[in-house]
Amino acid sequence: MCGIVGYTGKSPCGGFLYEGLKRLEYRGYDSAGAAFCTTEGIFCQKKRGKVQNVRSFCLRRRETTGIAHTRWATHGKPNDLNAHPHVFGHFALVHNGIVENAEALRSQLLTPCRSETDSEVLLHTIAACYEGDLLQAVRNALTQCSGSWAIAVISDYHPEEIVCARRQSPLVVGKGKNGIFVASDVYALHGLCEQIFLPPEDSLVRLRRPAAEREEAERIEGIAGDTGVTGGAGIAGVEAFDMQLSPLPVLPQAMPPMPPIQSIGHRTHMEAEIEEIPRAVSDTARSLAQANLPDLPKVQAVFATGCGTAFHACVAFRYRMQRYGKPIIAEQAGELRSGCVRFPKNSLLVAVTQSGETADTLAAIRLAKSQNVQTLVITNVRHSSAAREADFALFTEAGTETAVAATKSFNCQLMALYFLAAKCVGRPVPDFTDLPSLCEAAVEADVTQAVKKLYKKRGMFCLGQNADYAIAREGALKIKEICYLFSEGYPAAELKHGSLSLIESGFPVLAIVTQKSALKKMKNTLREAKSRGATTLVLSQYREALAEADVPVLLPMAEEDLMPILAVIPLQKIAVELCLKKKLSPDYPRNLAKSVTVE
Ligand code: F6R
Repeated sequence: MCGIVGYTGKSPCGGFLYEGLKRLEYRGYDSAGAAFCTTEGIFCQKKRGKVQNVRSFCLRRRETTGIAHTRWATHGKPNDLNAHPHVFGHFALVHNGIVENAEALRSQLLTPCRSETDSEVLLHTIAACYEGDLLQAVRNALTQCSGSWAIAVISDYHPEEIVCARRQSPLVVGKGKNGIFVASDVYALHGLCEQIFLPPEDSLVRLRRPAAEREEAERIEGIAGDTGVTGGAGIAGVEAFDMQLSPLPVLPQAMPPMPPIQSIGHRTHMEAEIEEIPRAVSDTARSLAQANLPDLPKVQAVFATGCGTAFHACVAFRYRMQRYGKPIIAEQAGELRSGCVRFPKNSLLVAVTQSGETADTLAAIRLAKSQNVQTLVITNVRHSSAAREADFALFTEAGTETAVAATKSFNCQLMALYFLAAKCVGRPVPDFTDLPSLCEAAVEADVTQAVKKLYKKRGMFCLGQNADYAIAREGALKIKEICYLFSEGYPAAELKHGSLSLIESGFPVLAIVTQKSALKKMKNTLREAKSRGATTLVLSQYREALAEADVPVLLPMAEEDLMPILAVIPLQKIAVELCLKKKLSPDYPRNLAKSVTVE
C-alpha cells in the first residue's frame, strides 16, 4: 500500500529516492512523485502511472533533502493531481494511510485543496499550525486527525530536516554514511544505510542533517504518544523516547525490485516465485524445526485469522484442526476485528500474514491482546509489525515475494499451519522431507490445455471439499486477481443448492480432488455439472477423478495430508499462464498492491 522514501544528508538525493521508489513499487503503482527542497523553494514532480515516469526528474535534481512516494489510491482517482507529494506553500508531504476526519478538516481550511485527497487536507492543516517549528506544526496538526498514517514532511523553511510520524502504518528510519533515510519498508533502505530504527506506534521523529558549520553528525529526535490511543489525543501527551539503532536486517535474497526479468530467466516475477517454491518449502521446514512455541495443548479455543490468501491458509488449518477434534474458528481479519468478538478464556489467536503489515490482521492481533488473549503470528517478514506485536511467531522462509499475487508464501503458510495443528494436539509434526521434490514435480504439471479452455471464458467455478475447498478458494482468487476472470471458490456439495443454475454449455468447472474420502462426492458433483453442459477440469492424483475430466491435470502422488500444499501449484501456474495469454501483467494487476496497510 503506497511506498514512502525520504532522505536528508550530504549527498544529492534524487538517485537514492528513485532507487527507493523502484524497490517500493510493488506496494502501489498507480502514480509516483518526488519533492526536493532548498531554501529557495520546493521542487516537485508527480505523475500518474509507474515510478519510471519520474525517473529523469529525480536523477536531475541536486538537492540533498527530499521525499518521494509511490501510490495506491484510497481517496481520489489515480491522476497527477492526487499523486503525492502534495505541495502547499512552503511545505510538502507524503502520506500512507487514511485521515478519517478529512472532510470535517477540509471544511475548516482557508484555502481550498487542489486534489481530492485526505493527505492534502493534512498538509494544509500542518501549514496552518506552523509557527516556526516544523515538528510542532506536524504534532499540532495530527492532534486534530483521526485515522492512520505514516508521513514525511519537508519545508523550505527547514531544508535540512524531514519530520515523520506514524500511527498504525509502518515507518522505518535508516542511518547511512552520508545521511538519514526514512521509508515505509526496510526493503527501500538496502544498500543505502547500515543501521535502522523503528519508530514506536504513535510517534513523531525529526531527521536533521548536519549543517557543516554547526554540527558534526546527523540528529534523529523523536517523541512518542500514548501507544494505541485512537483519535488525536495520543500525540498530545508526548515524551521523548529511546532511539535505539539496530543493524539493518539481512534479507533472505534479492530485494524488490528483483533483478530485471531477462536476467532471472523468467517472463515475470510471479512465474519465478512459483518456481522457487521447492526452495521456499525446504527453508521453511528448517525454520519450523527451530520454533519456540508455548504449551499449546492447554489452549481451549483457537481462532485463526488473516486476509485474502493468508485467510485461505486458515481455512485449510480449520479442517485440519477439526479433524484433530480441536475447537477452532477461522474468520477473515476484517470481519473478526469488526464483529465485537469476545474471546473465551484460554484462547489463542493465530494470525497469518505474509507481509506482517496488513492493517486488518494487525487490528485483530491488537483486539486479541486487549482481551489478554495469547497471539501467535505466522509471517514471512521477521522485522514486521505483526512479528513484533504478537506473543509468539512462526517464520516462513518464502523469501521476498515481489509479485502482487501471493504464491510461494501460501505453500509455506500451509506448512506452518499443519505443523502448528499437530503441536496444538500434541501429535508428531508432519514430515516435510520429500516436500521440496514433490513441489518440483507439481511445478512441472502441464496446464496448457486448462489455460486454452479458460481463455475467453467469462466465469468459472473452482470446487473442492474440506482442505481442497481451501485450495479451490485460493485458486479462484489467483484467477480473479490477475486474469480478471470471475471465478468462485465453492464447496462442491453446495453447488446444487442454488449456484448450479449458472451452469450452461461450456461453463468451466474446475475441481480439486486430493482426498480419497471426497472421491465419490466429487465425482457426483462433476457429473451433475457435466450433464448441464459444463466443461470440467480436474486436478487430482487419482485416475478415478481424472477420468471425469474434459481436461485432466495430474498431481504428484504424495501423502494425502501434504496434497493441498502441492495442489495449489498448478492453479498458480494456470493463473499466470492465462494472464500472459490474455496479454495482462501478472506482476502488476490493476487496482491492487502488495501489503494492504489501510483499513
Ligand atoms: C492475494 C494476496 C492477498 C494477500 C492479503 C494478505 O494474492 O496476495 O490476498 O494475501 O492481502 O496479505 P498478507 O499476507 O501480507 O497479510
